This record gives sequence, structure tokens and C-alpha cells, in this order.
Amino acid sequence: MNTFTFYNPTTLYFGSGQLEQLTTEVPKFGKNVLLVYGGGSIKQNGIYDNVLKLLKGVDANVVELSGVEPNPRLTTVHRGVELCRSQHIDLILAVGGGSVIDCAKAIAVGAKYEGDFWDIVTRKAAATGALPLGTVLTIAATGSEMNSSSVITNWETKEKLLWGTPYAFPKFSILDPAHTASLPANQTVYGMVDMMSHVFEQYFHHVTNTPVQDGFCETILRTVIETAPRLLEDLQNLEERATILYSGTMALNGVLRMGILGDWATHNLEHAVSAVYDIPHGGGLAILFPNWMTYTLDANVARFKQFAQRVFGIEAPGKSDRQVAEEGIAALRQFFNSIGAPARLADYDIDDSSIELMADKAMVCGDFGNFKKLTRDDVVNIYRMSL
Ligand code: NZQ
Ligand code: ZN
Repeated sequence: MNTFTFYNPTTLYFGSGQLEQLTTEVPKFGKNVLLVYGGGSIKQNGIYDNVLKLLKGVDANVVELSGVEPNPRLTTVHRGVELCRSQHIDLILAVGGGSVIDCAKAIAVGAKYEGDFWDIVTRKAAATGALPLGTVLTIAATGSEMNSSSVITNWETKEKLLWGTPYAFPKFSILDPAHTASLPANQTVYGMVDMMSHVFEQYFHHVTNTPVQDGFCETILRTVIETAPRLLEDLQNLEERATILYSGTMALNGVLRMGILGDWATHNLEHAVSAVYDIPHGGGLAILFPNWMTYTLDANVARFKQFAQRVFGIEAPGKSDRQVAEEGIAALRQFFNSIGAPARLADYDIDDSSIELMADKAMVCGDFGNFKKLTRDDVVNIYRMSL
């Protein structure tokens, strides 16, 4: 196990009725609230009305920033920063999925920085602070509700980049499974693939003596695999929604990272695809992850064998380690297939004509990945396997 420091200051309110906590949290920060949300789902499912009623109840002055895109864009961050300055915002309240929360994180940090926020994403400047941020999560997927990361797309340069700072941790996040019940099947699937992918990124490493970390990862993976078909049969089931919601948060709130070194190559590969094609993050991961696994298997066959046995229950007697490992990867493909996740880039009409461009985008920071370092040739090979 590696040495580590764990820090996570986000207060989590989980469960039915927790939206009421807005009335205790919001007044702590001030009167002027920037309400950030997406393309309108919160108006259709009633969350918007409920939030607004509670904000009015504490006499908040609400300024709205709506229309945050899935794969949120720098231009929207700029609009939000402008509103924070002109309206003297005290608290940003993000109501939505990872895209809305990531955009709100960028606005919170951008409002405290004099220059262009993109400087912070591109590491030309360091964050100097942030306005306080609260979130009401409406999709189980990214873990953004309890971490300090954000992913912003610069559509002009076709770059989709991860950035983060401890300033970006939400002060509080409210997670009510009922808020996720209106999600259609496809978004529910993308979210489950994303949280599983977060576990994969932190499970495939070469650090030894990590039995507790392994157990946490394997439990989350088995839980999502067991819950997914039941939830997809009954999208309104709040027990299953709660299980998935909790899984998503635990998969990327820093707990699984303790004492290990995550890989994160597949996320980088996916961000490059969605920077060029604007596809859903979870959809891209469903395509790329099994191929990354096949490609990197030889970096640590034992790790993949453990994954196959403990997550998918693959029987080992009479088989080589490699065979067991390959059956585990095949079982993952089969699982993704069974829940209706995409399997090929062709599912998004992506063909080999863009491979070089996507590879350029993936390589902006040079070779990447800790489980297996990927060079540009490796990146091209994995994209080709995924066509
Ligand atoms: O915009 P609205 O109308 O709200 O619709 C959204 C959106 O179209 C809809 N939706 C959300 N909650 C709903 C709902 N529809 C019905 N009922 C509800 N309750 O779902 C669509 C997708 O929402 P989005 O926020 O884009 O999804 P997700 O949470 O998967 O976020 C994806 C973004 O997060 C980034 C991804 O790259 C992508 O940009 N990531 C952020 C991470 C982080 N901050 O730590 C890590 C992740 O690996 C990921 O990269
Ligand atoms: Zn992800």
C-alpha cells in the first residue's frame, strides 16, 4: 500500500426528503444564489419548483443560469462568471448531473480569478479560491458531487480537459434517489458504466497489499452488476436507485484512491473522443474500456484474473491465468451488451477518418496511464480496436 493523504470536506445529505437541508445550508453563505441547471429536465420532473420554493422560503435572491450542456462548455462558464460578478453572488447552487456540477465548479473558481478561466484548466495559472458551491444531484454517474474535479470542453479548440483544485469541493451535496427516478434508461446506463469505469481506473494498478481497497472496488462492481438489470426493469424503483446513487458517489469521492495509484488512461481516451464528437461520456467508456483491458492485459495478468474471479465469478480450475482473465473481460463485454450500452465507435457514426485527430487530442499532455503507459501508437491501436 502506498502512503496517502485523504481530504474530503463535502457534507453529504443522502436519502428521501433531504432537499429540505437547503433551508439550513443556503443561509450560511448569503442571500444571492446563482442557480445553475441544464437543458430543462429539472423543470419537467418538478425538482426546479421544489428547489425554488425552498430558496424563496429563506428569502434568497435567485439568479438563474440555465442551459448547461452535457459536456459543459467554456462559453457557459464565462457566462456564469460574468453573472457572479455582476450580481454579487454569495453561493452557487448546481441542480443537475455531472455536467451542471462541473460547470458550476468552474464558475465558482473562475469568479475568483481575474484572467480567463481556461488558464486554470490548461495549468497556465493556479486557482486562487472559489465561491461556495452546493449541489443537488439528479443523475448517478460522475461522483462530481463529492470530489474536487471538473471536466470542461473548449469547443473552439476541440479540447475536453479535466482540471481540479481543493477549492472546487462542494460545501454540501444533496442526494435523494427520487431525484434520479425520471432518468431514461440510456442515461441510467451511461451513469452505471461511468461509475464502474471509475472503479476500473482505480482497480487496475500494480500496488501490492491493497486487500481493503480491492474489496471496496469489487463490492461496488458486483453491486452495480447485480442491481443494473433490476433497475432497468423498473426505473422508478427507489431502492435500486439508492443503491446506484450511493455506488456512484463512492466510486469517485477519493475513498478508492487511498493507498493506490490509479490509471485513468481510458478516461483520457474517452475525453478525446467526446471532445471531437460530443458523445455521452458513459457511452464512450463502454466502448473503450473492454478494448483497453484486452490491450493492457499482459501488464498484469494476475490483476485481471482476480477481477474475473471475484467480480464475475469466473471458475479457474483447469484454465491458464490468461484464459481466466480473458473470460473476465468477455463477461464485462457481455454485461455492457446486456444493459444496452454501445459497443463500437460505429454506434456513434465514428469511423477511422478521425482516429489521428482524436489521438492528437488524447496526447496533448504526452504519454499517459499508470497501469500501462500509452504512447501515441497505443492510442491509435485502441481506437482502431474500438471502431
Ligand atoms: O440538461 P438536462 O435537461 O438536465 O438533462 C440531462 C442531460 O441531458 C439529463 N438528466 C440529468 N438528470 C436527469 C436527466 N434527465 C432526466 N431526469 C433526470 N433526473 O441527463 C443528461 C446527461 O447529464 P450529464 O450531467 O451530462 O451527465 P453526467 O452526470 O454523466 O455528466 C457527464 C459529464 O461529467 C464529466 C463527463 O466528462 C461529462 O462532461 N465527468 C466528470 C467527472 C468529475 N467531475 O469528477 C468525472 C467523470 O469521469 C466525467 O468525466
Ligand atoms: Zn467518468
